[in-house]
Amino acid sequence: MISALRPDLVEHATISNKDIEVRKASMQDIPALLDLINGYAAKGIMLSRTEFELSENMRDFMVAYDGKVLAGCGALHFYSPTMGEIRSLAIAESHKKHGIGRLMVDALVYEAKLYGLDAVFAFTYVDGFFAKAGFHVVERGELPLKAWKDCLRCPKFQACDEIAVVRVLRPQRWEQKQQLHPVLGVEDGSVVLLPILRS
Ligand SMILES: CC(C)(COP(=O)(O)OP(=O)(O)OC[C@H]1O[C@@H](n2cnc3c(N)ncnc32)[C@H](O)[C@@H]1OP(=O)(O)O)[C@@H](O)C(=O)NCCC(=O)NCCS
Repeated sequence: MISALRPDLVEHATISNKDIEVRKASMQDIPALLDLINGYAAKGIMLSRTEFELSENMRDFMVAYDGKVLAGCGALHFYSPTMGEIRSLAIAESHKKHGIGRLMVDALVYEAKLYGLDAVFAFTYVDGFFAKAGFHVVERGELPLKAWKDCLRCPKFQACDEIAVVRVLRPQRWEQKQQLHPVLGVEDGSVVLLPILRS
């Protein structure tokens, strides 16, 4: 299986009679990644990325290629020693509904397990897709640190309608952690403690 720990590895999957190559991204992928991600960002579905941001975070990314065409991408971004976010997940319109999204999530989850994370989370409008990949919906207050990064520069920060989903990778450790402290958040520009909301 592909991983940042083995950047030389490439995985192939046959999808709709096409050979889809999945591998870690490299700097040469940046122009195609910008097109794919910012195409969805223009529709308000995803957060836009700059060339600088992509370069800075390129080791987070995996890509799926159909020949020379970028069919999809996704990234695993670490937030703490125990949690990471699956983000910038995007499948080209021409390649949707062929299992490539699931392929990307599986590859990113595999990598998260290799790094010893307790859980991975995502903020999404497609919770149904993530449910099929083993994620469940949680209160956003359960997801520490996120507000410090992307949320602060998101145009929807004050009226966020994304759904927080989590896939637990190490259930015992995750459960222990849930019984611990409240998490930090941001309200009216100030840092506050958010209560952990539980259903
Ligand atoms: C959401 C997205 C990544 C799904 O990728 P995809 O390659 O079309 O999905 P897959 O073909 O791998 O689908 C896997 C499963 O999820 C289901 N699924 C796909 N899209 C779905 C959706 N929008 N809602 C609910 N279920 C969905 C499929 O039916 C399939 O189910 P099955 O296993 O029972 O057959 C893709 O539509 C996309 O890039 N959307 C725009 C960007 C975006 O929303 N990204 C997510 C940001 S967090």
